[in-house]
Amino acid sequence: MEKVFSGIQPTGEIHIGNYVGAVRHWVKLTETYDCIFCVVDYHAITVEYPLEEMRKRVLETAIVLLACGLSPEKCKIFVQSHVQEHTELAWIFNCVTPIGDLERMTQFKDKSKQHRANINIGLMDYPVLQAADILIYKAGFVPVGEDQVQHVELCREVARKFNYRFGEHFPEPRVILSVAPRILGVDGTGKMSKTMQNYIGILEDEATMWEKVRTAVTDVNRVRRKDTGNPDICNIYTIHRAFSGDDVLDEAAKGCRSASIGCIDCKKMLFKNMWEELAPVQNRAKDLLANQDYVMDVLREGARSCSTIAKQTMQEVREALGLLI
Ligand code: TRP
Repeated sequence: MEKVFSGIQPTGEIHIGNYVGAVRHWVKLTETYDCIFCVVDYHAITVEYPLEEMRKRVLETAIVLLACGLSPEKCKIFVQSHVQEHTELAWIFNCVTPIGDLERMTQFKDKSKQHRANINIGLMDYPVLQAADILIYKAGFVPVGEDQVQHVELCREVARKFNYRFGEHFPEPRVILSVAPRILGVDGTGKMSKTMQNYIGILEDEATMWEKVRTAVTDVNRVRRKDTGNPDICNIYTIHRAFSGDDVLDEAAKGCRSASIGCIDCKKMLFKNMWEELAPVQNRAKDLLANQDYVMDVLREGARSCSTIAKQTMQEVREALGLLI
């Protein structure tokens, strides 16, 4: 089986954008690939964060992954800092990565603007650690969203540079682009994100979730109930496409275009399906939250089994580098 690797940052609550765009897609991939999923805590420290929150965030991220169906029988799940070879390989990759390539990264430029007071080397080196995450397992495929394509390109470049200088050791991994439509925030403007406070958290209770759906921005040109709307530009309809079947989608689109239903009707249809899918996830998350010893066992076992592979790769790399071993 081909190998897949992907990572998720423990930045706090996972929202339905992450769920639809990443995690739900990952669950599908476990059927046809040998998958490794990682909570990337060392990436998360490149920006300021509340110290007392980190442990909770990492655990919660792992719990959500498990609750969504990424069981340890289907794939490996672990925490990045538990397998130290990631950072070790990143150092070696640093020595084949031109600074200019990193300065050009869109995410680095964006984050440098957001965090002017702390533009650290780690922030710039972020994609090199990401390359190490992927290549230490010699993964051939990386499921990510559009915004991470540039980082996977850099990873391919790092592999090429390493192979050129030290011999063929790494594959050039390819992106598996999530086919899910991009879900915007409930304000209908930017990407759904935790920092923008425009997100629907996957673990939010039913009432909160409904309130966010109820008040979410739809097609802004549909002001009054009798106005017709355009589902193609409506964020609620995009979310519909992620949770509803063809019949409901059809009904909602026709109703919207003819103004035979109002936005609130459409939202009710959506919420019914959304909640039907997410309630079981939340139930599993509650169980796992109450059973953290089990979660820790899963993470430790994941790290143990990934360590074995990572250690082998590092040994091979040290030999390729001509080090004394
Ligand atoms: N940078 C990725 C993100 O923010 C997370 C990540 C870290 C990752 N390492 C990775 C994704 C390796 C894919 C493969 O979404």
